[in-house]
Amino acid sequence: MRQTRSVCPVAEHLDLINAPFWQAFGPVLGTLLQDAGEGPLIDIGASTGTGLKTMANALPQHEIIAIEPSQALRAGLFARLSEDPALAERVTVLSATVQEAALPPRLGAVVGINMLGHLRPTERTALCGRAWPDGSAHGPLPCSPSSHRAAPNASRT
Ligand SMILES: C[S@@+](CC[C@H](N)C(=O)[O-])C[C@H]1O[C@@H](n2cnc3c(N)ncnc32)[C@H](O)[C@@H]1O
Repeated sequence: MRQTRSVCPVAEHLDLINAPFWQAFGPVLGTLLQDAGEGPLIDIGASTGTGLKTMANALPQHEIIAIEPSQALRAGLFARLSEDPALAERVTVLSATVQEAALPPRLGAVVGINMLGHLRPTERTALCGRAWPDGSAHGPLPCSPSSHRAAPNASRT
């Protein structure tokens, strides 16, 4: 595992930093996900699982694949899952970047909140190609506006 993909310098404070965002955006994400198709939901950069809980509540029948390369943030995610065994049954956690992660052939929805800025433009294009290989969208790809501010050479956490 490369060190560059396992370090999040604000990991211990991330939930505190993101709390106002999720308070405002959580209901929006729940509404967007009503357009999801069949297949698992993907949470790219799941962090400690705040958005994942929103996804799980919005679509209680869907399985969820949480992609989280940061070991520190995965610790928070597993702690959250350990408190909710029913949710844990529905969630697969991948300790990888989205570039490395194997995705199932059909996805219900792809969620990448506050993280697309970590990807280079070519990596975002590649992600869309992998999420919808036949060119037709099967579900929403919610992302936050801040993700569009990415520098072309933005480094990974
Ligand atoms: C600012 S945090 C956002 C976390 C969460 N989505 C939220 O909105 O609360 C960025 C997240 O993206 C993850 N991340 C960074 N580069 C990534 C990559 N290449 N693939 C998947 N996740 C990545 C980080 O580890 C972190 O969890």
